Amino acid sequence: MAEGRFTNPVVASLAGVKDFFAKQKLSSRFTANDRADGKTILITGASSGLGFALAVSFAKRGGKVIMACRSKIPEAGERVKKISGSEKVEMRYIDLSKIETIHHFVDSLAEDGIVVDICILNAAVALPGARRTASGQDELFLVNYLSNVILTQLLLKKSVIKLRDSQPPSKLIFISSDSHQGASIIDYDEFGRYFEYGVSKAISNYSYFKLVLNTYATELSRKLNQQSVKISINLICPGPVHSNITKEAPWLLRMILNGIFWVVFKAPDKAARPVVYMALSPDYEGTTNEYLHMFNPKLMDPKVYQEEEGKKLWERSMELLKTIDPDWD
Ligand SMILES: NC(=O)c1ccc[n+]([C@@H]2O[C@H](COP(=O)([O-])OP(=O)(O)OC[C@H]3O[C@@H](n4cnc5c(N)ncnc54)[C@H](OP(=O)(O)O)[C@@H]3O)[C@@H](O)[C@H]2O)c1
Repeated sequence: MAEGRFTNPVVASLAGVKDFFAKQKLSSRFTANDRADGKTILITGASSGLGFALAVSFAKRGGKVIMACRSKIPEAGERVKKISGSEKVEMRYIDLSKIETIHHFVDSLAEDGIVVDICILNAAVALPGARRTASGQDELFLVNYLSNVILTQLLLKKSVIKLRDSQPPSKLIFISSDSHQGASIIDYDEFGRYFEYGVSKAISNYSYFKLVLNTYATELSRKLNQQSVKISINLICPGPVHSNITKEAPWLLRMILNGIFWVVFKAPDKAARPVVYMALSPDYEGTTNEYLHMFNPKLMDPKVYQEEEGKKLWERSMELLKTIDPDWD
C-alpha cells in the first residue's frame, strides 16, 4: 500500500514548526535585482495562499503574470493588480480536477500566441478523504499529481513552453513538500484507481503524491535535457505556509490546525520568497532537477532519482491518460 510520511494532520503540521525556525542558507542571495521584466509567468492555483503571493511578487518585479485558477476570477487578479501596482496580470480558468478544462486552458494560451517563460506548478488540495472526479480518479491523485503531467505535456506540445537551445532556458518549478521524504515506493496497484478512504490515508496520500510528482519532474528533466539544459525543471518546498490548505478539513481539526498555522506558519508573502528566488535568480539559471527546501538546497528522497522508477511512472502515466482522456494522443 502507498504510504506517505504522515497519517495524522496535527503531527504533519507540527513537523512544520521545526522548519519555521530553520536557518535559511541562501536567503541573502535573494535581492531586488532578481527581476521578472519581459518574462511571462504562469502560476496554477494563484487564487489563494502561496500562489496568490507569488502572483503579487512576480507582478511587482515587472513580470507579466497569468493566474490559472478555478475560482475568484476576476477578484483575485484585481487584488494582485492593486497590491502590485501592475496591470500586467490576467486570470484564466482551469479546474485541475476536470481534464477537459486543462485542454481548453492550454488551447486558449496557444490560440492567443502566449509563450510562457516560467511556469509554477503550485495548485494542490488537502482533502479529508477520497473523492471521485468526473473522469473516475481520486481527486487528490488527479489534482496533486496527474493534472501536472497533463498540463506540462500539453504546454510543451502546443509550444506554449518551448525547449530552448540558447540561454536562458524556460523554467518549470514544481511546488513540492518536504513531507515527501520517506514516502513509500510508488504502488501501481493503487495507481489511478479509485477507492474509498478516510482522513489518515488522505494525509498520507498528500505527501505520497508529492513523491510521485517529484519522480515525474525528475523523469521529465531526464527526458528533455539529455545533452544540455533546454528547460530548467526544478522543485521546491516552501516550508510551512499559513494558507487555505486546511479549508476542507472537518471544523474541529481545522480550528486546531489554524491555531498552529497562526503561531508558527509563515505568511504566504514570506513563504513565496525562496520560490521567486529560484525562479528569477541567476543562481538557478540553466540548472535542472535541483531541489530547495525553503532557502536550503537539499536532495529529495533517494527514490525520486531512481531511473527505473521514473521510467515506469512515465509509462504508467501515459498508459492511464490514453484510457481516461479522450483528447489524449
Ligand atoms: N501550506 C503549507 O504549509 C504547504 C507546505 C508545503 C507545501 N505546500 C504546497 O504549496 C502549494 C500551495 O498551497 P497553499 O498552501 O498555498 O494552499 P491553498 O491556499 O489552499 O492554495 C491552493 C491553490 O490550489 C488551487 N486549487 C486546488 N484545487 C484546484 C483545482 N482542482 N483546480 C485548480 N486549482 C486548484 C486552490 O484554488 P481554490 O482557491 O479555488 O481552492 C488554491 O488557489 C501546494 O502545492 C501545497 O502542496 C504548502
